[in-house]
Amino acid sequence: MGLLRKLFDYSAIFYSVTGLLRTGNPLSAISLVQLDVTSGASIHSAVLHIAENHGCLDVLISNAGITSTAEPLLNQLHQTFDTNTFGPAVLIAAMTPLLQKSQGSRIIFVSSELGSIERRTDRNYMFDAIDALAYYMSKAALNMLAICFAKSSEKPCKDLVL
Ligand SMILES: NC(=O)c1ccc[n+]([C@@H]2O[C@H](COP(=O)([O-])OP(=O)(O)OC[C@H]3O[C@@H](n4cnc5c(N)ncnc54)[C@H](OP(=O)(O)O)[C@@H]3O)[C@@H](O)[C@H]2O)c1
Repeated sequence: MGLLRKLFDYSAIFYSVTGLLRTGNPLSAISLVQLDVTSGASIHSAVLHIAENHGCLDVLISNAGITSTAEPLLNQLHQTFDTNTFGPAVLIAAMTPLLQKSQGSRIIFVSSELGSIERRTDRNYMFDAIDALAYYMSKAALNMLAICFAKSSEKPCKDLVL
């Protein structure tokens, strides 16, 4: 229970297969680090932590996402894009050297149906009434980030799923 509570207190959990193989202890293969994707300093600390403790990164799950209701709209857009779009873009760029050190690394972008331009133009779409302009925009931009990243990576991704 103590471990579970600790896990929920952290925004990023790193699981090291090499740590598990080295020690045989599953708990020693898990390390926790607080991560704020809107902070360059926080991202830099996370990169250093992984480099020092694990040496590479096999899987990056970009899950952070918010819906902001801040006023005025400009603040709402800034807050939402900082977390949902700019944060993942900067995080992935910073983690790329560690991902490249892994054999067969993966990045998982947690997007949303609400980022689909096709669905947004469908009046019969079941979530058509949701009023969340900044969120729609930020997830559509995240989808573009995923596609651009997949195309530009050393081994272009053939099976991108959104
Ligand atoms: N729920 C849905 O129906 C749904 C549908 C489609 C897509 N999604 C997407 O799924 C993802 C998770 O959503 P959820 O429903 O599980 O919402 P949630 O419970 O509110 O989870 C959001 C997560 O993002 C983290 N986060 C927020 N701001 C952050 C930041 N600046 N830096 C690092 N982490 C940050 C939160 O960490 P803290 O708790 O530590 O703040 C939390 O772990 C989001 O990207 C969301 O857009 C959700």
